[in-house]
Amino acid sequence: MENAAVKGKRIAAGKAIEYIKGGMTLGLGTGSTAYWAIQGIGEMVKNGLSVKAVATSEQSEALARELNIPIIPFSEVGQLDITIDGADEVDRGLNLIKGGGGALLREKIVAAVTKFYIIIVDESKLVEHLGKFPLPVEVVPFAWELTERKLAALGCTPRMRMAGDKPYLTDNSNYIFDCSFGRIEDPAGLHRRVSDITGVMEDGFFIGMADIVVSGTADGGARVIERGKL
Ligand code: 5RP
Repeated sequence: MENAAVKGKRIAAGKAIEYIKGGMTLGLGTGSTAYWAIQGIGEMVKNGLSVKAVATSEQSEALARELNIPIIPFSEVGQLDITIDGADEVDRGLNLIKGGGGALLREKIVAAVTKFYIIIVDESKLVEHLGKFPLPVEVVPFAWELTERKLAALGCTPRMRMAGDKPYLTDNSNYIFDCSFGRIEDPAGLHRRVSDITGVMEDGFFIGMADIVVSGTADGGARVIERGKL
């Protein structure tokens, strides 16, 4: 049987794709929630909807191609009309922690050129304060030990993400450090300090980027949350 989180994700995705209209250029997110949105868009394309898309990971691009969603090169993208993506945590200001699935850099590049950025989550992702979920930070492999030390000096415990006995590699061939800060009082300030470290490619803070968050519940309901209304 489908568990509560999976149902919440599926319901949120189903609500979010209602914002899509023919002729739009879309950004496709990454992860187990974005999966449902891509499936839904695939179904809409099968039923005659005409859209184009770019993806935030090789995995999502492969899924989109399987579903015959037309993928265009980034050279053809000016602005994206809508991007639908998941998140690991969402606070009351609709600030996010993302990157649990390792695609944070591409996700942020895509989010930055998106007119209407929709985040889809099951309700367990809505939090009072960010930080229970360790902040993913994408780091260039060169001299990673120095970068790790600088991250630790900000007051966290950085853990290199592993794939078996080797460092996990992002689609951009970088490493990820999952940084446990505990409760984060000032996400924007911490984002600036993490970003200032040379060797950091990007962090998982998405501050003030989400336009709406759609949260799905196990009882089949979907809540659309606008900034300041969580
Ligand atoms: C990938 C992400 C995902 O959106 C985030 O980790 C949420 O994943 P899921 O929908 O599987 O819970 O940021 O980099």
